[in-house]
Amino acid sequence: MDFKNIGKEAEKDLEKANDLKVLNEIFRKYLGKKGEITRIFSSLKKISAGERKNMGKQANLLKVKIEKAIKEKAEEIKKIAKLEKVKKERIDITRPGYKLEIGHLNPLTLVQREIGEIFQSMGFSIIEGPEIETEWYNFDALNIPKDHPARDVWDTFWIRQDDFKSKEKFLLRTHTSPMQAHYMEKHHPPFKIIVPGKCFRHEATDASHEIQFYQLEGLVVDKNISAANFRAIIEEFLRKFFKTDIEIRLKPDYFPFTEPSFEVSVRRKKGDWMELMGAGMVHPNVFKAVGYTQSPSESGWQGFAFGVGIDRLAMVKYKIDDIRLFNSGDLRFLNQF
Ligand code: PHE
Repeated sequence: MDFKNIGKEAEKDLEKANDLKVLNEIFRKYLGKKGEITRIFSSLKKISAGERKNMGKQANLLKVKIEKAIKEKAEEIKKIAKLEKVKKERIDITRPGYKLEIGHLNPLTLVQREIGEIFQSMGFSIIEGPEIETEWYNFDALNIPKDHPARDVWDTFWIRQDDFKSKEKFLLRTHTSPMQAHYMEKHHPPFKIIVPGKCFRHEATDASHEIQFYQLEGLVVDKNISAANFRAIIEEFLRKFFKTDIEIRLKPDYFPFTEPSFEVSVRRKKGDWMELMGAGMVHPNVFKAVGYTQSPSESGWQGFAFGVGIDRLAMVKYKIDDIRLFNSGDLRFLNQF
C-alpha cells in the first residue's frame, strides 16, 4: 500500500483548499466511509497477521496525520474569513458623514421675521388677525361704505352667505387694514403696532400680482403725531431693512381711511423711484367707527397708518422679478435662501 503517495496527495489537496466546503470534500475523500484510509483499514483483513500489525500502525499514523492537517486547515480558513470580515466591516471614524438635507424657511418668512425685529427694536408690538373678515371690518369701519367707488380698488373674494347663519357678509380680507379697527376697538392709545398677514384679491395674476400675498400694516396712535413722525419711522425702517442709504418720497394719494394720504416711493443711490406703500393720517371717521367718542381735536389722539406688500419688499431686497415664484415650490428658487 502506497502510504507515501496517499499522504502526498492529501497534502496537495489541502494546499489548494480555500474554503470549508472543499475541506469537507477532502475529508470525505480520505476519511469518509468510502475514503482512501477507510479502504486501507478494511483491506487489512486480507493480509497476514504479521504484516497487518505493521501496516495497521502505518495506516493509523497516516489517518491521524491527515485528520490533524484537516483540522489545522479548517482553523486557518476560519481565521482568514474572520479577518476578511473585520476588514470589510471596519468603520472608518475619520470619514466625513453624510450631509442631511434639512428644510429651510421661505424668503417671505425670513423677510417677515426681519421686518418684525426692526419694528420691535423701535418699540412696536406685532399683532395678528383673521384672514376671514366681515364686510364691516374690511370696508365700512374703514370709511368705505357700500356703493363707495373705492371698493372697486379691492377686488374681493366674498364667502357664500348661506354657509353662515349671520346677516354679516364674510370675505377674505383684501388688506391688513381691518386690524386697525379691531385693535383700536380693544385698546386705548397710545400704541404702536404692526400687523403682518396674508391677504387675498380676486384678480388676474402676473409677475407682480398674486391672488394671495402678504401685507404689513402699521398703526401708531399717540398725542402730537404727525406725518413727519411717519416719515422718520419709515425711513429708519427702510434703511435698516435694505441695509443701505435710501431716499424716500411722499406724494399725495387717496385712501378712504386716511386723510391726508400718501404714496411712498423709495430709491437707492440715485436709482429709479419705486412705489412701495400707501400711508396716511388716520381718518377721524375711522376713530369714530371704532368707538372713540371724542374727535382728534378734542382728545388729542392722532395717528398714522401704512400698508406695504411684504412680497414687494422681498422682491426689491432680493431682486426677484416674479411674485409667483414665492408659492411655486420651485427648489431652484427656494434653495437660494
Ligand atoms: N390698505 C391699503 C391697501 O391695501 C394700504 C394702506 C394702509 C393705505 C394703511 C393707507 C394706510 O392698499
